[in-house]
Amino acid sequence: MKKIIIAIDGPAGAGKSTIAKKVAASLGYAYIDTGAMYRAVTLSCLTAGLSLTESAATQMAQGIKISFRYEDGRNQVYLNDHEVTDAIRSLEVSRNVSQVSAYGGVRTAMVAQQRKMGKNGGIVMDGRDIGTTILPDADVKIYLTASSLTRAKRRYLELQEKGTVCDLDNIQKDIEERDQRDMNREISPLRQAEDAVLVDSSDLTIEQ
Ligand code: DC
Repeated sequence: MKKIIIAIDGPAGAGKSTIAKKVAASLGYAYIDTGAMYRAVTLSCLTAGLSLTESAATQMAQGIKISFRYEDGRNQVYLNDHEVTDAIRSLEVSRNVSQVSAYGGVRTAMVAQQRKMGKNGGIVMDGRDIGTTILPDADVKIYLTASSLTRAKRRYLELQEKGTVCDLDNIQKDIEERDQRDMNREISPLRQAEDAVLVDSSDLTIEQ
């Protein structure tokens, strides 16, 4: 049977990775989290103590190796053969990743890798520009969204489960600011592809 390409785009906290992982597992497909790739570039710049300029971030993006491995029932992210799955979710990375992901040089380096990963099909790829730019010929395109309050509540519960003290209003504000940056940047802004199916997960369970 032909192995198809499934593209899922949408804003932070809409449920893309939860759904993408489940779909990939049930079809026996690979799952590619493109946001994790921008996070990995951001983490390596921060760890190296670099200022987050376009030239420093671009050089970093061109020089690092990012890979995904399915181990112990979990999708793990590797940066130059070091496992960074949790490290890329830190608050510091989350605060800086929008800036890094808006740089043209960084995007060019990531786009090339993402297209290569997707070209043979049998993948579920999630991000912001998969259906519009990375894999415009994807067989299935979903634009998954939810209200900013719903998305903030989900993030709040996730952080609480990890024992992190947090404030719902601040989380919602952060999410709305990130939406603005992702939707209004010059290169590959977040938007629904014309042929994507819109799914609003605000009042839906994961199974629905
Ligand atoms: O999905 P996420 O929150 O892990 O994404 C991290 C950041 O990377 C987010 O600010 C948007 C950006 N991103 C992007 O510009 N293009 C993608 N294909 C995926 C993520």
